[in-house]
Amino acid sequence: MQDNKVQIFDTTLRDGEQVPGCKLNTKQKLVIAERLDVLGVDVIEAGFPVSSPGDFESVNEISKMVKNATICGLTRAVKKDIEIAAKALKYAVKPRIHTGIGTSPTHIKYKFNASQDEVIQRAKEAVSYAKNFVDDIEFYAEDAGRTDNVFLAKICEEVIKSGATVLNIPDTTGYCLPEEYGAKIKYLKEHVKDIEKVTISCHCHNDLGLATANSIAGVINGARQIECTINGVGERAGNTALEEVVMILKQHPYLNLHTDINTKKLYDISQLVKNEMGIYIQPNKAIVGENAFAHSSGIHQDGVIKNRETYEIMNPKDVGVDKSKIVLTARSGRAALAYRAKNIGYNLTKIQLDEAYKTFLKFADKQKKVIDEDVHFIMEQVNKISKIATI
Ligand code: KIV
Ligand code: ZN
Repeated sequence: MQDNKVQIFDTTLRDGEQVPGCKLNTKQKLVIAERLDVLGVDVIEAGFPVSSPGDFESVNEISKMVKNATICGLTRAVKKDIEIAAKALKYAVKPRIHTGIGTSPTHIKYKFNASQDEVIQRAKEAVSYAKNFVDDIEFYAEDAGRTDNVFLAKICEEVIKSGATVLNIPDTTGYCLPEEYGAKIKYLKEHVKDIEKVTISCHCHNDLGLATANSIAGVINGARQIECTINGVGERAGNTALEEVVMILKQHPYLNLHTDINTKKLYDISQLVKNEMGIYIQPNKAIVGENAFAHSSGIHQDGVIKNRETYEIMNPKDVGVDKSKIVLTARSGRAALAYRAKNIGYNLTKIQLDEAYKTFLKFADKQKKVIDEDVHFIMEQVNKISKIATI
């Protein structure tokens, strides 16, 4: 029977950090790695050790510090990369080398000017060589999203024979549709000998906004690891957002798939990564955006005040957000104004509320948002006409 746990492989410190201008130093990486470990991720991809002395140092220091998660270092299918990664991972309790090569026709022709057989040979050699240093070897077939399934199955079978423990099937260019990506994983499950001995991993980029949907299609079809980043940061349009896939699996229990993530820590780690990388989060970002639990239209506010579940499919507390927000704008109704007034200490009668609402609309038409100070001012105006009961 297949295990229903989906491993979370966080690559914020490697693929995520490839965002221009978001470079992190070792100290910042250590802070984030520590919090990722507490969050409950299974694997932390700490860097690409051969790429720079700074990245080597980060992987090395993270390996010394982290006690629970597997620590992974990226390499190309190149002996020197593998040796340096092994050295950087020397102190890790659970080290993993992540090695691989491009497998799509475009990569084979333009990057390597090689044949498919030569690429298979290089992949096998890299995995066998890495096996001399650590047991846990993840192989990535770069641009698997645009790789023919028959060839992909062939290279996967060969690297399993060479000792790979995890097969990463990246949609490097974010091109696949969810059905297509799911079918690719299913094809590998059905056609690769000994596939049940390894974990299939999804690594999806977000060029068409489909990274999350593709990763979910992957696990529905048998993958058991998702590679993702906090806030979905990463090359170009980014990677799969960790918080999104984790909450999708939690909110859809009938899928019978789970992760070990402590979801109550999601908002805080999102803020940490935002601040350390200096990268803005769009307000409407799912799960961790400032408006993810904010309600501003009158109809929605009225519903949420009566019962949160009318317009929320998850409890903000489950992701570490204290409570839903009722934002007062010109689209808000009387229910929202009464609710906010009550929150700051005023109990309005129906007549007082009608009066207050008239003043409120004048404010709201001039301002984008009406804040608590404005509500106090409105209450003072109404108080002049009729005394408001305070709570
Ligand atoms: O997107 C990709 O293919 C990658 C690999 C290096 C794993 O990041
Ligand atoms: Zn990537």
